[in-house]
Amino acid sequence: MLIKIPRGWELPESAATPESLFLNRRELMKGLAAGPILAAGSVPFLTDDVFAADPPDPSAKYYPAKRNETYKVDRAITDEKAAGTWNNFYEFLPQAGEITDRAAKLVVRPWEVAIGGMVEKPQKVAIDTLLAAMPIEERVYRHRCVETWSMTVPWTGFPVKALVDYAKPLGSAKFVVMKTLMDKDMFPTQRSFFAGYPWPYTEGMTIEEATNDLAFLVTGVYGKPAAKQHGAPLRLALPWKYGFKSVKSIVEVTFTDQRPTTFWETLQPREYGFWANVNPAVDHPRWSQAEERPLGGSRKVPTLLYNGYAEQVASLYAGMGNARTLFM
Ligand code: MTE
Repeated sequence: MLIKIPRGWELPESAATPESLFLNRRELMKGLAAGPILAAGSVPFLTDDVFAADPPDPSAKYYPAKRNETYKVDRAITDEKAAGTWNNFYEFLPQAGEITDRAAKLVVRPWEVAIGGMVEKPQKVAIDTLLAAMPIEERVYRHRCVETWSMTVPWTGFPVKALVDYAKPLGSAKFVVMKTLMDKDMFPTQRSFFAGYPWPYTEGMTIEEATNDLAFLVTGVYGKPAAKQHGAPLRLALPWKYGFKSVKSIVEVTFTDQRPTTFWETLQPREYGFWANVNPAVDHPRWSQAEERPLGGSRKVPTLLYNGYAEQVASLYAGMGNARTLFM
């Protein structure tokens, strides 16, 4: 059951800086009064031992994977520690700068992905069996969080299209839904004050979006198996959409003819929608989306339509008008 969100969590717009507004989304989770927040650019980096390699990983042989040079960006790659220190993973904590050591507790083997719904044959597949069947490559993508921070990272993984082909959906399937692990022992917020929120974290896309060349399933980052705070062992990357669409630590992939209601949309439909395509001209109800702050620095840069990927994805939305809902 969804916990009723008290209206008191909203800050008056006049009183808020963008960063304090981000906290406001965290307050939505906490139901507490807004407090101070670390600016993304000023996050203290953790020491090297926090980033030390996990015990030998059966997928280590895939890294570093060959980079697919089709996907070029005109931005510097974000420092690995900056990207691995400022993370959103609400199952652990609503504070972006404090996820890393908590996420170290995430157990990523054994890990199974259930593929079901409107498919020829529902199946459960072990992550390493799946990886062995997928075309693994590296792609450098931009990532734009709805909270206005951004990063540019080398993801390793495989196209969502390869998973769709593997799953063999029925012709009647129209959407792909992906869910994060539900595990109250692993994820403190699923059992605590936030237990009434719509866990597991659920995201979805149309089949056309899923089979667009850009849609990518991530297994690694920076030439290594993905650090847990990034959503190991399997997370989504839809670089033309706000980052909340990129669901982490996926255990379920379902094909359906019904548009799913997603996690943030369920919590606050006025602010977070199904489409969530990046558009600098469409403000979030409580802050501007015109600019973003690349992690690791304090300088702001302009945000681009579809996060710079209009050429690859704008046609997906042709004929759908310019409704605000496409960009929230
Ligand atoms: N997936 C789950 N399961 N839980 C989350 O809290 N946060 C989302 C997305 N995927 C989130 C999630 C948001 S808001 C963003 S911006 C990205 O993950 C952040 O990815 P990163 O931490 O690897 O930068």
